[in-house]
Amino acid sequence: MISARDLHKRFGHVEVLKGVSLDMGKGDVIAVIGPSGSGKSTFLRCLNHLETIDRGRIDIEGETLVDTDAQGHCRYVGDADIRRICRKMGMVFQQFNLFPHMTVLQNVIEAPITVKRLRREQILPTAERLLAKVGLAEKHASYPSQLSGGQKQRVAIARALAMEPDIMLFDEPTSALDPELTGEVLRTMRQLAEEHMTMLVVTHEMNFAREVANRVIFMDQGELIEDAPAGEFFANPCHPRTRAFLQSML
Ligand SMILES: Nc1ncnc2c1ncn2[C@@H]1O[C@H](COP(=O)(O)OP(=O)(O)OP(=O)(O)O)[C@@H](O)[C@H]1O
Ligand SMILES: [Mg+2]
Repeated sequence: MISARDLHKRFGHVEVLKGVSLDMGKGDVIAVIGPSGSGKSTFLRCLNHLETIDRGRIDIEGETLVDTDAQGHCRYVGDADIRRICRKMGMVFQQFNLFPHMTVLQNVIEAPITVKRLRREQILPTAERLLAKVGLAEKHASYPSQLSGGQKQRVAIARALAMEPDIMLFDEPTSALDPELTGEVLRTMRQLAEEHMTMLVVTHEMNFAREVANRVIFMDQGELIEDAPAGEFFANPCHPRTRAFLQSML
């Protein structure tokens, strides 16, 4: 579903990604863990073109988004193809990013109407089904400011799903939430995983990584240091930096 090869990214003098590669199959649930500043968000943002890479190659479901030629020039496909390819991925952010002036329902149907050109009556049944799925059917007329953090994040998940993505990217979806609200968002994500959604999840929730992810990758200082099945990753991490990080999380 995703193939990332040797991704490099710098911000000014700081090399944030130093050759990150990842292959992700259909139905994979991969947890991305690592210290603050290690490049986890940048990696996710590069995959769906919220950031551009400087070097490397990204293929999404067999279609090349960007490649680097022999001279080292990074070449993206055309804008229309970028938009089409990136639409295969939905993204959920730490800070929800809901439209504050729109109701819950409007938030969910906005992109299908403006981007996919669906008519309101075409998307309404899907939107209602998705809101019920995340446990918020009765909140469709509320505004984001009237919701708890956990509810906002579940709306954000429903909104991403309304575009019918094949892959969901989550960037620390629960780290802005109080512990008692974290569980309800993780439950929604666990349910998605059980339905075999392909998911790449940056998280500090080690129990989620252990129980829901089938693979865990550890990033440190712009490099992907370890990539292992979840059980193995926690039972027997290979790299000393992974071990040190896991110890610090206990
Ligand atoms: N737009 C930007 N401009 C300049 N530097 C940036 C930008 N975005 C990120 N960085 C830098 O890139 C590095 C990696 O940041 P990134 O947000 O990817 O880390 P992270 O692993 O997601 O960290 P956290 O766990 O704190 O979210 C950091 O040193 C950060 O300061
Ligand atoms: Mg981050």
